[in-house]
Amino acid sequence: MILVTGGAGFIGSNFVLDWLAHGDEPTINVDKLTYAGNLNNLMSLRNDDRHIFVYTDICDTEQMLSLLMAHKPSAIVHFAAESHVDRSIHGPAEFVRTNINGTFSLLEAARSYWSNLIGADKENFRFLHVSTDEVYGSLGPNDAPFSEVTSYAPNSPYSASKAASDHLVRSYHHTYGLPTLTTNCSNNYGPYHFPEKLIPLVIANALAGKALPIYGDGQQIRDWLYVGDHCAAIRRVLADGRPGETYNIGGWNEKANLDVVHTLCDILDELRPLAAGNSYRQQITYVTDRPGHDRRYAIDARKIERELGWKPAETFNTGIKKTVQWYLDNQEWVRDVQSGDYTKWLEKNYSQREMSADKKHQGVA
Ligand code: NAD
Ligand code: TYD
Repeated sequence: MILVTGGAGFIGSNFVLDWLAHGDEPTINVDKLTYAGNLNNLMSLRNDDRHIFVYTDICDTEQMLSLLMAHKPSAIVHFAAESHVDRSIHGPAEFVRTNINGTFSLLEAARSYWSNLIGADKENFRFLHVSTDEVYGSLGPNDAPFSEVTSYAPNSPYSASKAASDHLVRSYHHTYGLPTLTTNCSNNYGPYHFPEKLIPLVIANALAGKALPIYGDGQQIRDWLYVGDHCAAIRRVLADGRPGETYNIGGWNEKANLDVVHTLCDILDELRPLAAGNSYRQQITYVTDRPGHDRRYAIDARKIERELGWKPAETFNTGIKKTVQWYLDNQEWVRDVQSGDYTKWLEKNYSQREMSADKKHQGVA
């Protein structure tokens, strides 16, 4: 069996579903169920003995160690984190706690468990740490994409906390020989994405007739990867990645935020047309920029392709259409999420921003 942390979140739940769809190795899923953890994502596994859910905080080293001793997993796949940059700006403490202290606790539990393994169990054990391209900081328009040897330059409390966790993982391999693997992935999108992040927020707001908030001038660039491709990449790294190595994962899909939002509006115009030839684009509203907003991320994903034969199966066009269709087919999932703490979050994040439909009021210098 493998132990997954954060398996009730966006990528973690996609991973658990994907893992069990591709084999029979059971999963023990450890999650604290923060606002981002949603067991509805795993509803299809409710009668599946291969999935064991454990409601626990990764910061609890003792509890993590006793889970490891009891279930004897062959690998840990570590997703659990606070993951939203805007939340990290409003309240960085939780990011330090879970992303840094939590990863440290988990590493300590893993080190203790692994050092008592013997033979093939010890040899084959892996600790796979799921991280982000944001640790590399921001690129200029003509800079080469981030590779595995790009220096770290995190700019937000979120990316700084992830960078710290990556360094801890690196040190546990270097110092103790723990067989770690680290993946640094670009922006994911797809089913079960919490509607505080750009793509699901825009889809949900568009359908609700609300503003589609664009931070600053909307020309910030992200590389987008369909979540199913990320899950497949993690499976490849877990199977054949070399301990101590890091692998960058990306979609070769650099897009400006405004272009992403235009694409979403155009797909919705086609699939869920508004009356009288109106377009969802009319709901686009420019709001004050995010403080310290990184301008451009881009990933050089050649190492994982060369060494492990992974490349994305979805283009942005195919992935984004699937995603919009999923949200149209799963309105109830969105409604359930929105009835919780989410509404309060929206109020907090957007009430303090200057909002305008006029490009002149973008809130940028
Ligand atoms: P998410 O916020 O949707 O999910 C995080 C999950 O972790 C939730 O289920 C939450 O309940 C759980 N969790 C939080 N604190 C915990 C704690 N102390 N103990 C146990 N569980 C806890 O995040 P996501 O978007 O699915 O991201 C998963 C991982 O992938 C994160 O490590 C993130 O940094 C990384 N990542 C995300 C992206 C992206 O685009 N979303 C891209 C690259 C890497
Ligand atoms: P987000 O989905 O929060 O991911 P990240 O900050 O990790 O890249 O944001 C993606 C991009 O979209 C980022 O440049 C910020 C921007 N953005 C908006 O313009 N408006 C919004 O309401 C949100 C949530 C994000």
